[in-house]
Amino acid sequence: MNQQDMAADMDFSGFKRKIKSSYDLDLECYKRPQMERRLRANMDKCGAGSFMQYFTFMQRDEKLRDEFLDRLTINVSELFRNPDQFETLRNRVLPELLARASRASAWSGLSVWSAGCSHGAEPYSLAIILDEVAPGGRHSITATDIDEKMLARANAGIFAEPEMRGVTEARAAKYFTKTPQGYAANSSLKRWFKFKKHNLLESQYPCPDYFGEGGYDLILCRNVVIYFTDETKSALYRRFYDSLNPGGYLFVGGTERIKDSAEIGFDNQIPFFYRKPVKN
Ligand SMILES: C[S@@+](CC[C@H](N)C(=O)[O-])C[C@H]1O[C@@H](n2cnc3c(N)ncnc32)[C@H](O)[C@@H]1O
Repeated sequence: MNQQDMAADMDFSGFKRKIKSSYDLDLECYKRPQMERRLRANMDKCGAGSFMQYFTFMQRDEKLRDEFLDRLTINVSELFRNPDQFETLRNRVLPELLARASRASAWSGLSVWSAGCSHGAEPYSLAIILDEVAPGGRHSITATDIDEKMLARANAGIFAEPEMRGVTEARAAKYFTKTPQGYAANSSLKRWFKFKKHNLLESQYPCPDYFGEGGYDLILCRNVVIYFTDETKSALYRRFYDSLNPGGYLFVGGTERIKDSAEIGFDNQIPFFYRKPVKN
């Protein structure tokens, strides 16, 4: 390594330490080339000559801090993203989970976690199909994200036209009210939600009861881990496994696959759905 590369390496290492101590965000968990490329675009925009200078600028300017988080986290989402997978969820996975839940307890509601929910399109899509397949059910949907601004939007439940393109007219009419701000979700959809800030890269991790709940019947974590390293992903999927009830499912994104699913213990009979077996 020549001197210039060494200096660049030190600059980046110092930046990572500062980000960890100031924002509790471990950049070691991200694939470096992609992350560096994206952050450099921000640095160029604000005229920072080094990562450490970029950090100093960020400390003084909230807008730069927000841009940094946006660049790293990417909040793009829409309702019923990957519609075929939501159909599979509706027609195969949810009926199985609901049947199991009603055999197991009088409550018979499902406990669901949408991890990395962005502005809420994912948990609202889930709430719509849950209402369709189990009307009147009493479910619990915990939806989390690292980004508080996205959680505030999710809580408000108002979606712009492009985010609604996967919603049929019948569903839009039944579950939303058109307002000048966008499509506002009706209160019937909101009754099961709890929105909470949570960083998936934190060392302390949601296991059953972390949010004051039991294990989950279904965890959705879609289009969140794309920029995480393989080690980080593997650790994350193991923790999801631990957080699931036996027979529960982890639902991943349309381009995602869990390489070590069998070693972790998952069954994968249905593409994009990983099931924690029921031990006899
Ligand atoms: C592309 S969106 C995916 C939204 C939704 N799951 C979907 O598939 O449409 C990624 C979301 O993951 C969140 N995210 C990224 N890193 C995270 C972390 N370490 N902990 C929690 N959420 C994170 C981002 O803030 C963003 O809202």
